[in-house]
Amino acid sequence: MVRERKEEVYRRVTDEIRATLEGERDLISSMATIACLLHHSLDYFFWTGFYRVVTPGELLIGPYQGTLGCLHISFDRGVCGAAAGRGETIIVPDVHQFPGHIACDPSSKSEIVVPVFNDRDELIAVLDVDSAEYDAFDEVDRRHLEEIVTFLRDKR
Ligand code: SME
Repeated sequence: MVRERKEEVYRRVTDEIRATLEGERDLISSMATIACLLHHSLDYFFWTGFYRVVTPGELLIGPYQGTLGCLHISFDRGVCGAAAGRGETIIVPDVHQFPGHIACDPSSKSEIVVPVFNDRDELIAVLDVDSAEYDAFDEVDRRHLEEIVTFLRDKR
């Protein structure tokens, strides 16, 4: 998707997410809403969803859209684990070049993983988006997705 179009779609979907979550306190419902609205707005999103930190050092599948996702991911595995361990966004243009990448679906070619923090700055989850195209994610995705996950800071 060309940069200008991406910006436009992100601006629209961000407003839509903000409006839909207005007054909502529940974390899981808010994650489900974000995954759904993002997945159906950006046509290069093949898998869109959250992995939650429910045990120290381990991620568990949360609300998502797309094909079947792996259930448990340890912090020392895959792109999701690396982003959770470092507490920072990771963009991978070609997942086959990422050591330890977990191929939940062989169609996945590139991905972005964004950490999610609560209002005590504790890591509570990661937002994982996979694309069936190589090099699908850039700084535009990073900026907007990092903004969108801040909507989850005060949810419980
Ligand atoms: N690609 C991820 C695994 C999760 S799924 O693709 C849904 C990773 O390597 O962290």
